[in-house]
Amino acid sequence: MTLLSLLRKRRSIRQFEPKPVEQEKIESLVEALLRSPSSRGYNPWEFIVVTDRDVIARLARAKLHGSAFLESAPLAIVVCANPSVSDVWVEDCSISAILAQLTAESLGLSSCWVQIRKRPHDAEQTAREYVVQLLGLPDFFRVEAILGIGYPDEEKPPHPSSSLLYEKVHYNAYKSDGSDEEDSST
Ligand SMILES: Cc1cc2nc3c(=O)[nH]c(=O)nc-3n(C[C@H](O)[C@H](O)[C@H](O)COP(=O)(O)O)c2cc1C
Repeated sequence: MTLLSLLRKRRSIRQFEPKPVEQEKIESLVEALLRSPSSRGYNPWEFIVVTDRDVIARLARAKLHGSAFLESAPLAIVVCANPSVSDVWVEDCSISAILAQLTAESLGLSSCWVQIRKRPHDAEQTAREYVVQLLGLPDFFRVEAILGIGYPDEEKPPHPSSSLLYEKVHYNAYKSDGSDEEDSST
């Protein structure tokens, strides 16, 4: 299967079968993470691979909204970084995360991203602080995202070609369709 055909099918999946992810597949995902390109090859990321049900259940409470689905995931990968290694750790982490998601697809698994960076846990604590405490990360570490991964237990139709935003693609120079012009009447 080509990468483009995987991309055509890919959807964020938030309901997983209880079946564990095989060790061999976990190792493939780890290899994909570690093969990620990073700025200047500095590799600022750190990955926490979580299969412990209790820890996953607590990761599912990282945010008030958007993390609860992790509860059904047999595998979670926390993508974090030592920000002193690279000023562009966000880009590096994002690249490794999407490569792991696509590798998961290629292995018959599904996944969904949980945003942690810049998100609150509750009124007192950020989602980052919550995850740092839960996993025993160094205090200064940043946390980009948590990937929930497993065998899908829901079906979602692929996005149809007709939904692709081709108007956002410009050749040789930006060409406006007028929709982004400032409203001069106000
Ligand atoms: C940067 C980023 C942050 C996201 N954060 C969350 C999240 O916190 N919780 C969640 O359930 N989904 C999250 N998602 C998944 C998006 O909601 C999903 O990709 C989007 O709705 C499009 O659906 P699709 O992936 O099925 O095409 C995130 C995706 C990205 C790329």
